[in-house]
Amino acid sequence: MLLPFLLFMWLLLLQSATLVRAFVFTETRSCNDPGGLLPLNPTCWDTLFVGMYLMEWSVTNNATCLPGTPFAQCFLETLNMGELDCVGITSGTCPPPSWIEFQTNNISVQEFYIAYNIYSVWSFFNGYYTAIGNARSAATDSIGAIVALLDPPKSTNVFLNDILTALSVGLSFVSVDAGPLAGALITGIQQAPGVGKYLFPVGTLDTQVAQFDEIANSLGTVTSYFQENITTALAAIQNDTQTFLAIVGSGNFSVTPVPSIADQSDTMLTALNTYVISQCLQANNWVITRAIDTDVNELQANGSAVGWDIPGCGTGYDSNSICGAYYFNKAINVSFSLDNSGDMSNNPTTDMSQFFANWTTPDLLFNGAAQCERQGGSAPSVTIGASGIDASCLSNLKVCTWDLDPKHIGVEYEFTDCDTQSRFAVDGCVGCGEFDECVNVPYSYIGNYLTFDGWGLPYYFCFGDHKILPSP
Ligand SMILES: *[C@@H]1O[C@H](CO)[C@@H](O)[C@H](O)[C@H]1NC(C)=O
Ligand SMILES: *[C@@H]1O[C@H](CO)[C@@H](O)[C@H](O)[C@H]1NC(C)=O
Ligand SMILES: *[C@@H]1O[C@H](CO)[C@@H](O)[C@H](O)[C@H]1NC(C)=O
Ligand SMILES: *[C@@H]1O[C@H](CO)[C@@H](O)[C@H](O)[C@H]1NC(C)=O
Ligand SMILES: *[C@@H]1O[C@H](CO)[C@@H](O)[C@H](O)[C@H]1NC(C)=O
Ligand SMILES: *[C@@H]1O[C@H](CO)[C@@H](O)[C@H](O)[C@H]1NC(C)=O
Ligand SMILES: *[C@@H]1O[C@H](CO)[C@@H](O)[C@H](O)[C@H]1NC(C)=O
Ligand SMILES: *[C@@H]1O[C@H](CO)[C@@H](O)[C@H](O)[C@H]1NC(C)=O
Repeated sequence: MLLPFLLFMWLLLLQSATLVRAFVFTETRSCNDPGGLLPLNPTCWDTLFVGMYLMEWSVTNNATCLPGTPFAQCFLETLNMGELDCVGITSGTCPPPSWIEFQTNNISVQEFYIAYNIYSVWSFFNGYYTAIGNARSAATDSIGAIVALLDPPKSTNVFLNDILTALSVGLSFVSVDAGPLAGALITGIQQAPGVGKYLFPVGTLDTQVAQFDEIANSLGTVTSYFQENITTALAAIQNDTQTFLAIVGSGNFSVTPVPSIADQSDTMLTALNTYVISQCLQANNWVITRAIDTDVNELQANGSAVGWDIPGCGTGYDSNSICGAYYFNKAINVSFSLDNSGDMSNNPTTDMSQFFANWTTPDLLFNGAAQCERQGGSAPSVTIGASGIDASCLSNLKVCTWDLDPKHIGVEYEFTDCDTQSRFAVDGCVGCGEFDECVNVPYSYIGNYLTFDGWGLPYYFCFGDHKILPSP
């Protein structure tokens, strides 16, 4: 009984070993020909044991390089492939290595991969440097448009350091093709904190402030400063084998062509726009409101909101999960909106549609603020951890939670965690009939009066003492 079984297992093992060998053989063969049908490939980094090769190279060649010579420069010099500069932000001094040329000179495929990664890191950083330069004018445009839309008081201050933080976080928003490279960079700095402090130079511009009406000049200060840090980050990666391996060791820089992020300034500004919108809203007395365990569209559509047609909602959400002045976050079952604590009649719908058309996402603006408050944060900050970079408090608006408990009606609890705004729930706004019951609420109200069916009397909602909405 046992023998046939063992024989069977043995055959099975033999077969799978053959399969694995055949697979490895094919893969190794294509990895060995990076100029062939399958050009450079991230998985070949491991298949060819390039990391181990480089560590051995580094021991063997320890004495070869002059003291102070960056690793990348020394490595390329040992290949005798001409004068190259792949350490600085330069143009045309670091062409992609050619496999044909390497073969002609009998240089190994591992050395080709190392040379190529030196080139792709250089290329990626040159693109990043350009993107930050372009971000200066793109940010001047978007911040100008945000300020024009929201019109905060002229003297509203922003810290340049917060702008720098928000700008640096832009790296995590780059699009799909460059994403794996940015991801590898962000992951790699956990082993290379020396690079991280230049990529995310937080807290280094802390005392300088600017006002929104003269932000354009200050943006130049921030982008030039950050460009210098990016220049140093590149030099630090190319400086020694250990740092270099921390960044390229996943293989993700082994792609051809190297995707460029030079033209992704707009995308990279998502974080900065979020911060600016949050600051301007705050300066104009806006707060975020939220209704826990509430799907505002369902509340309206299914008629549980007895007294009021929630403006612009009830017919479904758009692609941003917005209806009217509300954003519903399905994952946490919370409906968010904005409420102006200075003027209850203020309607945020148009501004919100502008924010989410071009500048930021509801998740960053609303959830971001809720998360910031939960962590007890205030200014934008970046932490580097196992899951990559975590930016918090880009949006740091105050968050107020509607009191949904109908038992509190009459005691005038507007929020569970914020003060009641003046004139909230006051009866008798303009146009309220002598014998009618009226309740004065903010435009984006989703509190306990919505599901309260009164004391048997018809009652009406008003915004900021004047608009009257009849109950259905
Ligand atoms: C290179 O040599 C120096 C000085 O002899 C030594 O301190 C260092 O550890 C060596 N580095 C490597 C990677 O072997
Ligand atoms: C190429 O390199 C291999 C391995 O280093 C060596 O065995 C061979 O002799 C070299 N061929 C030439 C033409 O230099
Ligand atoms: C490399 O890219 C892949 C996507 O192609 C990604 O899943 C992976 O996380 C990246 N590696 C690192 C270290 O970021
Ligand atoms: C970033 O660059 C600026 C300007 O050169 C420099 O003053 C600052 O120290 C750099 N930041 C870090 C973290 O080194
Ligand atoms: C490169 O390494 C040298 C020697 O360890 C060090 O003095 C220098 O600061 C490093 N350069 C960068 C840009 O990290
Ligand atoms: C959201 O909360 C409401 C009220 O508790 C509940 O009826 C509904 O099922 C919840 N929806 C989800 C998706 O969890
Ligand atoms: C309203 O309730 C019905 C029945 O429970 C449900 O099928 C429908 O999806 C709900 N409408 C909305 C907008 O959630
Ligand atoms: C937003 O983007 C659209 C389409 O790209 C453009 O037409 C519109 O002018 C932009 N709006 C603002 C306020 O920048």
